[in-house]
Amino acid sequence: MEPRDFAWTHLKITGSTNDYAKERVRKREVSGFGAVYADLQTAGRGRGGNPWHSDNDKGLWVTLYFTDVAWNPFDAVMRASLSVAESLGLFGLDCAIKWPNDVIAGRKKICGILAETFDGNIVIGIGVNLRQSAADFPESIRESATSLLLETGAPAGNEEFLDSLLSCFCELEDPEENFRKYSGRLGILNAGMEIGGEEIRIKGVERDGALLGENKSGRIKKYYSGNLRWI
Ligand code: BTN
Repeated sequence: MEPRDFAWTHLKITGSTNDYAKERVRKREVSGFGAVYADLQTAGRGRGGNPWHSDNDKGLWVTLYFTDVAWNPFDAVMRASLSVAESLGLFGLDCAIKWPNDVIAGRKKICGILAETFDGNIVIGIGVNLRQSAADFPESIRESATSLLLETGAPAGNEEFLDSLLSCFCELEDPEENFRKYSGRLGILNAGMEIGGEEIRIKGVERDGALLGENKSGRIKKYYSGNLRWI
């Protein structure tokens, strides 16, 4: 797979790039690999049915689609979060992956990923906050969200970031090992978090993608699903 194999579709405005890409794949109007990105989303969707605030042109709102692939969704999501993390590194920002797939700078979220599979196809929606100032985020997430501009002072453009993201996606070497590296970085390693009502200390990620958490009695447990929250 090479970056030039991806067909790019640029939309000025759409509800959700995931919905747009799914519709076009379902109708067989597109096939192979592609990237659909929009300046604005009016109904951006996040994980767990949450909205994704993207009714502004301050971030990269993109969906990568892959038709007729037998990919494991976790593998696809892992590759996506890793490519974002590597790209942010190329743009001067050290970040970590908060299992399963949020990219964070310090304790703040800079990128979220929503993967959906259907009929042997996969779409991976990626939202990367690039140029927001604090006031651009709704108050409810102002404390927990950040952007590349806020972290580095450098305003990256959507196309240049997408270009870099696709190159990183295609060039990934040993994704499992790299994913473990980004999930075990300082800032996240040994952090106290809560998952499913249980307090744990983050110990890293297994090769199969499971989260390793140490509970209060010192036992290391593996988690295959759930939402991590800072405590
Ligand atoms: C999350 O962390 O909750 C996932 C957020 C995913 C947001 C992206 S933006 C592009 C694509 N279109 C959507 O409607 N959602 C994803």
